[in-house]
Amino acid sequence: VRELLGVENLAKCEASNQNDADFACKSGPPLPVSYALTPIHQGRAEVGGVLVFFDLTERQKVERLKSDFVSTVSHELRTPLTAIRGALGLLSGGVLGELSAEATSVVDIAEQNVARLVQLVNDILDMQKIESGKMDFDPTVCDLADLVNRSALDNRAYAEPFGVRIEITERPERALVRVDRNRMLQVLANLISNAVKFSPPGGVVTLRIVPQDSLFCVEVHDDGCGIPEEFRDRIFGRFAQADASTSRMRGGTGLGLHISKSIVERPRGTITFQSDAVSGTTFCVALPVLDPVGESQRPMPFPAP
Ligand SMILES: Nc1ncnc2c1ncn2[C@@H]1O[C@H](COP(=O)(O)OP(=O)(O)OP(=O)(O)O)[C@@H](O)[C@H]1O
Ligand SMILES: [Mg+2]
Repeated sequence: VRELLGVENLAKCEASNQNDADFACKSGPPLPVSYALTPIHQGRAEVGGVLVFFDLTERQKVERLKSDFVSTVSHELRTPLTAIRGALGLLSGGVLGELSAEATSVVDIAEQNVARLVQLVNDILDMQKIESGKMDFDPTVCDLADLVNRSALDNRAYAEPFGVRIEITERPERALVRVDRNRMLQVLANLISNAVKFSPPGGVVTLRIVPQDSLFCVEVHDDGCGIPEEFRDRIFGRFAQADASTSRMRGGTGLGLHISKSIVERPRGTITFQSDAVSGTTFCVALPVLDPVGESQRPMPFPAP
């Protein structure tokens, strides 16, 4: 068994008790397997082990089918949803004639629900892209101070109905990092919307950028009820919500932090949080400060003036 898996693998396999690997075959393509090892002890001595293999070929085929199906359905939904959103926008903008107060409120509700559906479809597509390693990133030199400003402004309209204010309390003049601008705005929008959703009415969500050694930390703080202790391990998982009623009461599907983590880790960043019921929750996104030497050695897109 040790020869088959290698000593290192064996130790790993005992520790986690379940491993996946592709095993080379004499003929045909490699076989995807899951294996688990249970050591047999006699007293303190390890006298053997039971190694169980499970062929994953069928399971992987089904997972691929499911993932292709979800991607196709999501893509097919996006086009008609965009058309519906456009039509509702024309109606609410009065382009097709003045609407009665009653009709305006119905169109408003329809617009909000279409926006939620579009968000859901986009999140599912993002999740699929992350899992298949096909998420596009276009990293450029960005000023985090500028991105935080932008997000605070963009999310003000979201915070208003919750009676919550968004404030920037601290930030350096400039905080240069290399990130995908739109993806980073997506991360900040999720952290801010979470903070707003879980703030008490009349609460304030504070944003600050703190330089730390070779990192810039963007902190998003709220005075809300905090994240339940038993949920903290799962918070970055797919469709993870502490309370099943969250989605109904506050909107969302539990994909935001899962997607945010993948985006932040791409440029070697981290996303962490501190939370308790008294002082609320602070999420911190730490990104490496732009290395000016490395940056000046990058090829310039255009000749310098
Ligand atoms: N600031 C916070 N305070 C309290 N709980 C939080 C906070 N941020 C996240 N959570 C918990 O983590 C869960 C997951 O957050 P996430 O952003 O992934 O999903 P969501 O906001 O519910 O939906 P989505 O972001 O997909 O619209 C939330 O549903 C909530 O239970
Ligand atoms: Mg969210």
